[in-house]
Amino acid sequence: MSEVVVEVDNLHKEIEGRKILKGVSFEVREREIFSIIGGSGSGKTSITKHIIGLWKPTSGRVLVFGKDVSRLSLQELDELRSDIGYVFQEGALFDSLKVWENVGFYFLEHTNMGRKEIRELALEKLRLVDLDEDVMDLMPSELSGGMRKRVSIARAIATDPKLIIYDEPTSGLDPITSRVIDRLVLQLRERTGTTAIVVTHDMISAFTISDRLLVLRKGEVVAMGEPEEVLNSPDPFIQEFIGDMKDCLAKQGRTP
Ligand SMILES: Nc1ncnc2c1ncn2[C@@H]1O[C@H](COP(=O)(O)OP(=O)(O)OP(=O)(O)O)[C@@H](O)[C@H]1O
Ligand SMILES: [Mg+2]
Repeated sequence: MSEVVVEVDNLHKEIEGRKILKGVSFEVREREIFSIIGGSGSGKTSITKHIIGLWKPTSGRVLVFGKDVSRLSLQELDELRSDIGYVFQEGALFDSLKVWENVGFYFLEHTNMGRKEIRELALEKLRLVDLDEDVMDLMPSELSGGMRKRVSIARAIATDPKLIIYDEPTSGLDPITSRVIDRLVLQLRERTGTTAIVVTHDMISAFTISDRLLVLRKGEVVAMGEPEEVLNSPDPFIQEFIGDMKDCLAKQGRTP
């Protein structure tokens, strides 16, 4: 049995009387690709905010690497966050910094490493996302949407995190580039062995890359399991939500 990396136990979150998460429980194990899917406003990003300790639960517990996140000191929280790579929705690159400076940002800011050394480290990480020297000195504005995503992923893995959280890695990308990013998420797991949580409302992506997934609706878990189990769930909401997913997979010659 592999190690549990994230354990969310009966998590409730209420803000100004509004119930945002209503008893969410799940576990993510080492090397797993675990997706959280659900419509806009269902609470996906809110869950990740608890995992990185940005929000405290109203009740319930969130354990990351075995530690209760809401009980950590600020220093412990910093240490925890350096073990987690976060790929933000929309990429969130620094527009005034070159690609390599974006990727090496943590080291430029927090260490005494020389620029040359950081550049080399950035190149190594860029290669992991199938980019090379050619993009090192470009500005983010000179990149395509898919390249920006790759650069933000390279930045998230720069510190060799044990866990990567991708928030909507394929949003805003065309279908072909989305599938390229899907393959990259899978390749990165092979290349680095890192556990991944993928927040998405891209159904094709979720069902293609996940070992297990969780379906969230209005702050509640309505299904969880391996892709096949979730696809076959009788819950009417899920059947509606996945819509023509089965047709779509069938058209690709795949049987769910
Ligand atoms: N800082 C906040 N203060 C108050 N309410 C918030 C805050 N952030 C999010 N919410 C509310 O929590 C609910 C869940 O939001 P969340 O961002 O987790 O949704 P999501 O599933 O990530 O949606 P999307 O797919 O649109 O990104 C929403 O109803 C939202 O209005
Ligand atoms: Mg979100």
